[in-house]
Amino acid sequence: MINLNNLILDNNNKTSGLNFNKSENDKKVYIETYGCQMNYSDTEIVLSVLSKSGYNETTDINNADAILLNTCSIRENAEKKIFYRLDALRYFKKRNPNLVIGILGCMAERLRKDLLENKKIVDIIVGPDEYRKVPQLIDNVFETGEKGIAVKLSKVETYDDIIPIRRDGVSAWITIMRGCDKFCTYCVVPFTRGRERSRKLTSIIDEAKRLYDEGVRDIWLLGQNVNSYKFENYDFSDLLKQVAISVPKMRVRYTTSHPYDLNLKLLETMAEHDNICKYIHLPIQSGSDRILKLMNREYSVSDYMKVMHKAREMMPGIGFSTDIISGFPTETEEDHKMTINVMKEVMYDYAYMFTYSRRPNTKAFRMEDDIEPEVKTRRLDEIIELQRDMSYESNKKLIGKITNVLIETISKKSDDYLMARTDCNKSVIIPSLPQKTYVDKSGDLILNNNYKIGDFIDVRISKCNSATLFGETVE
Ligand code: 5AD
Ligand code: SF4
Repeated sequence: MINLNNLILDNNNKTSGLNFNKSENDKKVYIETYGCQMNYSDTEIVLSVLSKSGYNETTDINNADAILLNTCSIRENAEKKIFYRLDALRYFKKRNPNLVIGILGCMAERLRKDLLENKKIVDIIVGPDEYRKVPQLIDNVFETGEKGIAVKLSKVETYDDIIPIRRDGVSAWITIMRGCDKFCTYCVVPFTRGRERSRKLTSIIDEAKRLYDEGVRDIWLLGQNVNSYKFENYDFSDLLKQVAISVPKMRVRYTTSHPYDLNLKLLETMAEHDNICKYIHLPIQSGSDRILKLMNREYSVSDYMKVMHKAREMMPGIGFSTDIISGFPTETEEDHKMTINVMKEVMYDYAYMFTYSRRPNTKAFRMEDDIEPEVKTRRLDEIIELQRDMSYESNKKLIGKITNVLIETISKKSDDYLMARTDCNKSVIIPSLPQKTYVDKSGDLILNNNYKIGDFIDVRISKCNSATLFGETVE
């Protein structure tokens, strides 16, 4: 069990002015997170809010007094997963009738009291802008047995004063803005996460500095659309520059961005600062102008390509990834081929690819979902296969090259290896055991690659597959 109170006190020691009015409480909360990085970052905020009220986190579901699911609504499948999970949680509720079950996040916001009515085991429903109320709502169920719901969206809530409780690691997210005003016609996010709002620039910088002092070496500035960041007269490029200068030895990345707002100033800022990673995740969604228009994406393929070419011209070797939706209403084979052509032209290093899922309330919901499921899947399979080949080609180009990596974790597959990451966001597996030893002048045995998690080291790429690079240390 992780004691959140201790973690909070640790954080308090390292910062000033944060006073958590912690009350005593022996209740344990177990949280599962689904969906995008924003949700994972929000879970860290919820843990912090809970800890302030004296709750502890448990990683053992059998031990929990409350089970919270932080949910995603982006596609129908994401919601189905939660419904299956709720069915499975009935067993825990039967075993312990006092157990509190809560739904947080986008599904809570979208389905609201319908969820309480249709899923009897759910006790609390909390939307993304109401996380400060989570402890109060749980307390209330314990004390009175009353179910609770808090789903108001806010124009100002940024949780700016809350220090997220993060898992240990060299990589951390900093949420810089919340919400989305783009209203792409297929997307529920503007409805589940509300209007755009940005955090104070100074508090973001303070958080970056504090994270550096705590051993973090890689930060991701996070938001649904980071390049609409606006605080006083500062735009996203200004923020990125200030962060890069404030923590010069920290790797700084951002996600996710919208092509409409990605301007030359941002590319110049990226090119100017060595510690801003040369990597852009820029969702294209479709390679057909007709479909982009129906999606309300506000750019054409040629606008998009201009940005990509400029970025490569200014930062050769930059890494690109994207999101693509297959089978949007009315998508023809011709439109699909256009997407394939754009993928080939850009040569993405990585892509997140999905079949279109019709979401209630969105503008596209009113269009007929007219592409047969088999056709959607076949098109998706084609783009996945193409992307796999291109990822492999792009990785192969690095074989024999020396590149600087940050060692992030022990490899998932074996303790004998570590997982490191290049500046352009490719993972590299390196041996964790020192490979060579030599005896120095005084007769001492020296291990020549005694590196550890959190170190930046140079490695030579020796082989690869489409997902991963393998490297050796350079003497
Ligand atoms: N259907 C399929 N994919 C979607 N996305 C967003 N909404 C939908 C939907 N209704 C994808 C987009 C977005 C990513 C986060 O999820 O590609 O960029
Ligand atoms: Fe959804 Fe479009 Fe906003 Fe991204 S930019 S969150 S796809 S509405």
